[in-house]
Amino acid sequence: MNWTESTRRSFLKRFGAAGALAMAAANAEGLGLAQEPQRSAEPKTPPTPADLKQAATREQRMQWWHDAKFGMFIHFGTYSLIGRQEWAREMEGTPTLQYELLAKHFNPKRTAAREWARLAKRAGQKYMVFTTKHHEGFCNFGTKLTDYNAVQQGPGRDLVAEYVEAARAEGMRVGFYYSLMDWHHPDGATCKTDEAARKRFVEYTHGLIREILTNYGKVDILWYDMSWPLTPEEWEAEKMNAMVFDLQPEIIVNNRNRLEGDFTTPEQRIQASEAGRAWESCMTLNNSWGYCQGDDDWKTPKTIANNLAICARGGGNYLLNIGPMADGSVPPQSVAILDKVGEWLQTNGKAIYGTQRAKAGGTGNATFTTSGNNLYICQYAWPGRTEAAEWLTFYQPQVVLSIGGLKNKALSARLLKTGQKVEFVQDQFTLRLTGLPSDPPDDPISVIEVECDGVPEVSDSDMRPLWPRGKVGMSV
Ligand code: GLC
Repeated sequence: MNWTESTRRSFLKRFGAAGALAMAAANAEGLGLAQEPQRSAEPKTPPTPADLKQAATREQRMQWWHDAKFGMFIHFGTYSLIGRQEWAREMEGTPTLQYELLAKHFNPKRTAAREWARLAKRAGQKYMVFTTKHHEGFCNFGTKLTDYNAVQQGPGRDLVAEYVEAARAEGMRVGFYYSLMDWHHPDGATCKTDEAARKRFVEYTHGLIREILTNYGKVDILWYDMSWPLTPEEWEAEKMNAMVFDLQPEIIVNNRNRLEGDFTTPEQRIQASEAGRAWESCMTLNNSWGYCQGDDDWKTPKTIANNLAICARGGGNYLLNIGPMADGSVPPQSVAILDKVGEWLQTNGKAIYGTQRAKAGGTGNATFTTSGNNLYICQYAWPGRTEAAEWLTFYQPQVVLSIGGLKNKALSARLLKTGQKVEFVQDQFTLRLTGLPSDPPDDPISVIEVECDGVPEVSDSDMRPLWPRGKVGMSV
């Protein structure tokens, strides 16, 4: 768990279910709502009739999403102006009237959304998920339900409309992030204990969701977040999802309103769900979702490409975040990382897109993915040449990349970067690839495609009991 997560968690724990609004009411603890918020938002309730109805069309609705593998998450709101992440208001206790001034000064450039969409395309991402409303409560869209929105505040225009148009222009699928938790709405916290407030707030929430799913044409994903402080029953979440599917029959929804939804959402970690359950890991490029000026802890293109391979291997998707700056420009470090990953995907996309959940893991320096009968060895640490290769015949001819426990017969192999054929020898235990260069042929990860005589399966542990052992150091 990183600093941000643990800090947030302890914050929320300390103040129980009472958020900023309750704090402003100066009686947070008095509300007596001390419950751990559902940050990981795993579904807690058994499938409902609505869940079962969605399940019937799930496979067909989600086909494009499974093939897509890689998406762009965009956290952009009035918090982007202060560059201290999207939780700044809560973490710093900014008074509401002060915080509201940000909305007046919010004025992103008109080309921002186009820049994001073009970047996503270059990066090899196939869909985008944009924060229509984050926890701060500011609506990036025009709405009749509050004037705390982009059309009536600083921007003077509908940022969601700009995003949708830009995403479609680049052939991206369109996703809407929507935070149920709302620090700005007067009922956003008191709704937990005051039934009249709950009714108002739930009506407001359902109303906003109705607007975003009505006013922008086809929406491909609804990405709920943070169901605090209400239970699914209190949110009237079944009714919410029924409305969503009524408005957008082809849509895909996540599980963060605490119904089952279509997919699971591990955050800042990669964790495959059980077979048959769709999942998507969302992750930041540094440690922040919203723009954070001082956060220089960037992941490398190698880490990102390997994370993408790990997700693909587990049959999951990777939703990677950018946190644009006040004017909507993407931090140059994010652009550089995404461009590099996109360049890599141009030659190595076969190892990612259209792959299936694999019966193969990896070695200590490679991740395996599979597609049909092909095994992709995504070698992130290239073995190069060591002196041992001079006298250990196992490593001859020079520079051998080898994997133990491939259960299939290899038919052919090639390097994706160049298409160059790779020679190999195979016995019962090991596949050894020969004739490869000493230096990594690709950057940041070199991928070798091995065509097998069936769906590839690799398990060194299954093989281990069969390996003949020597007697070194043992008395006979
Ligand atoms: C957490 C954070 C939120 C962020 C989200 C992304 O819920 O609170 O700020 O938008 O993760 O998954």
